Amino acid sequence: MDIPQIKQQFDRELASAASEAAVRALRDKYLARKGGVASNLLRDVASAPAGERPALGKLANELKQYIDTQLTERLAAAAARRPAGETVDVTLPGRAPALGHRHPLTLLRERIEAIFLRFGFLIVEGPELEDDYHNFEALNMPADHPARDMQDTLYLASPVTSAVGSPATLLRTHTSGMQVRYMEKFPPPVRLIAPGRVYRRDDLDLTHSPMFTQVEGLVVDEGVTLADLKGTLFAFAHELFGPERRTRFRPSFFPYTEPSGELDISCASCRGAGCAMCKNTGWIEVLGSGMVHPAVFEAVGYDSEKYTGFAFGVGIERLALLKWGIEDIRLFYENDLRFLEQFPL
Ligand code: DAH
Repeated sequence: MDIPQIKQQFDRELASAASEAAVRALRDKYLARKGGVASNLLRDVASAPAGERPALGKLANELKQYIDTQLTERLAAAAARRPAGETVDVTLPGRAPALGHRHPLTLLRERIEAIFLRFGFLIVEGPELEDDYHNFEALNMPADHPARDMQDTLYLASPVTSAVGSPATLLRTHTSGMQVRYMEKFPPPVRLIAPGRVYRRDDLDLTHSPMFTQVEGLVVDEGVTLADLKGTLFAFAHELFGPERRTRFRPSFFPYTEPSGELDISCASCRGAGCAMCKNTGWIEVLGSGMVHPAVFEAVGYDSEKYTGFAFGVGIERLALLKWGIEDIRLFYENDLRFLEQFPL
């Protein structure tokens, strides 16, 4: 009679008892008054030498108690899982299978596209592998132009053929090259947005990523003015952020626009009073823009005496951080469902 061995065997059998019926069978095997393993054990104790009886009896009783507790717990758990009366309530709503949805950056891009489609804009896309001419040169940034330092460019080790068939030497640092690509091919009037991924030599941190997404805008026609630019951007900002946010236009510099300006919206956290979010200015920078520089028109063969236009470029991640009050851009690239599931817009 080996008590530890019996316990081991019971544990093994209980662990492999897959059904409620199997657990009940174990109860019969071990605890049946007649012929149960534990009952036999106690009977054996009675026939042991008198000196060993108390110690043996104690161990045998503890084992019986242990087996009883284990079986009772397993049966109670099984009972709790069983619906009352073993019936199925067919009126209960079913469990909906979890469906995926589009990524928040995609949702926001579609939102922006919908706004500009309504404004009568065309949506175009261009290559991410770009050449120096379209990314810089034609945008009034010749090789020695200091403005090239504004963007840390990722160059390719050797030129490859891009999607549009031209030899590419770099990953585009902005979507502005699409202005050039479109105007080279099509005459005015132009009214387009060009969304897409862009790349820069930045380390991934709270507010930077080596890859992010922009939307470029370009409008060219006879008689396009700065008032058209401001009106379009203010209308866009109010569509996206709500009519209660205030907007302002602040002078800035870009080589491919003259004059240039940046669009600001009033800070949502302090409502313009000044806080850490807006560095105490009450305003938050949203995007860069300006009137297309005549040098850009000349590069693409547009008559800069006859036509004027405006352009703008906006980061989708930046808009997303502002719109949803998110503080870490990395959340957009980590594919953590706990984050992504909060955006069925
Ligand atoms: N390309 C600029 C950037 O990446 C954004 C920009 C500024 C685009 C002014 C424009 C513009 O079209 O006119 O930061």
